[in-house]
Amino acid sequence: MRILVLGSGGREHAIYLKLKSEAGNQRVFQLPGNGGTDPQDKLDGTLNDFTSIARQIRALKIDLVFVGPEQPLAEGISEYLQKETGVAVFGPDQRAAQLEGSKVFAYQFMKKAGIPTAKSIVIENLPEGLAAIEKHSLPIVLKVDGLAAGKGVSIHRDRASAKEKLIEIFEQRIFGQAGNRVLLCEFLSGTEASLFALCNGSEAIFLPVARDYKTVFENGEGPNTGGMGSYTPGDHLTPAQIAFAHQTIVKPALQEFSYVGILYVGLMVHSSRADDISVIEFNCRLGDPETQCVMPYLAGDLTPYLLWACGRNNPIPKVAEEGFYRVPVKAGASLNVVLAAKGYPGDYEKDIPLKLPQKMPGDVHIVHAGTARIAEGQFVSKGGRILNIVATGNDTNDCRQKVYAFIEQLKTNNDFSRLHYRKDIGL
Ligand code: AMP
Ligand code: GLY
Repeated sequence: MRILVLGSGGREHAIYLKLKSEAGNQRVFQLPGNGGTDPQDKLDGTLNDFTSIARQIRALKIDLVFVGPEQPLAEGISEYLQKETGVAVFGPDQRAAQLEGSKVFAYQFMKKAGIPTAKSIVIENLPEGLAAIEKHSLPIVLKVDGLAAGKGVSIHRDRASAKEKLIEIFEQRIFGQAGNRVLLCEFLSGTEASLFALCNGSEAIFLPVARDYKTVFENGEGPNTGGMGSYTPGDHLTPAQIAFAHQTIVKPALQEFSYVGILYVGLMVHSSRADDISVIEFNCRLGDPETQCVMPYLAGDLTPYLLWACGRNNPIPKVAEEGFYRVPVKAGASLNVVLAAKGYPGDYEKDIPLKLPQKMPGDVHIVHAGTARIAEGQFVSKGGRILNIVATGNDTNDCRQKVYAFIEQLKTNNDFSRLHYRKDIGL
């Protein structure tokens, strides 16, 4: 099998490493990749140049493409590459990707399908929005309709700040076109959980539940980031809740969209009752940094599932639970800590030199995110989230010890006054 992974973040590097470790894969390429991508596998290009990607797929005789991030999916890369090159593409088509690309579209679908979610109002202009804020109970959640790099949601405990935000969106156009419409939502309380359904157009099989840490500092303090660490297995969804989500959320989505790829269901869990969950959002891709801990936790190869999802009739190992199937996993746990540039998610330190050891301690590996390669073992930072330190072990605590011990080791050769990481992942 010759596979191309599209994307350059930690998620895509983790997928690349997993696919590369599987014996049946002859070559795995990454476009554009990052500092961790083997130079002989790294393809030049940008994710918005579909023509050039199609050309490289033909030239390299690629069999299967894994699309990592949401933007190209929302722009229709999946059907474009299939039509132009005949390649199998893991990732939903443009219409299905609107579940992430448009919050209004996702809300309208959920309403039609009877999927539990926050009550919401679609706001088309400023006067309408200001009037709605006057009448709405607090707190108020505002979501811009389009893709906004994770910055499009704000929670307001007073009406004045909600109005201010709407002025920024509709008058100052801080989100551009993405802010043409806004969803005003009821505030949901509870614990958040992410569910990853791997879909083949008519059926789903579930990946392990992982916990993500969103705020930049410990104890939920500081602004939200893309995610500062993760671990799996997470215990914040019971099997009965997964079965409920399968029946009431994933199945209707499969039916409406013949969904192929990952349907990432962001949930709010209100209590331990099986049916007491609501959808916060849909994403049309895997989570970052959850993927970094999920990949090494899978018991077998990922490739068979990707082929199954793309309609190739090959068998897949699966474990039957009551009301759903899941992918077999290893015993123990897996955990990931993100090393970020100081200042992230605001203005952050740039071009930080990084020295990484050639030999890694047992059960620990590095997944690159915002890095570029200078020479063997030498890198420079090229983004806010830079590296993921991942360990597998007997349990979360064992993984924690391995990850943090390795970070201490990195301190002897690297300038940690320019780096930041959370110390409470897995606690
Ligand atoms: P989203 O991009 O829709 O996942 O929203 C980003 C974050 O905002 C979520 O992970 C939640 O922490 C929070 N959030 C979104 N919608 C709501 C809601 N209706 N009630 C409470 N928190 C929410
Ligand atoms: N870790 C959250 C996300 O990928 O959206």
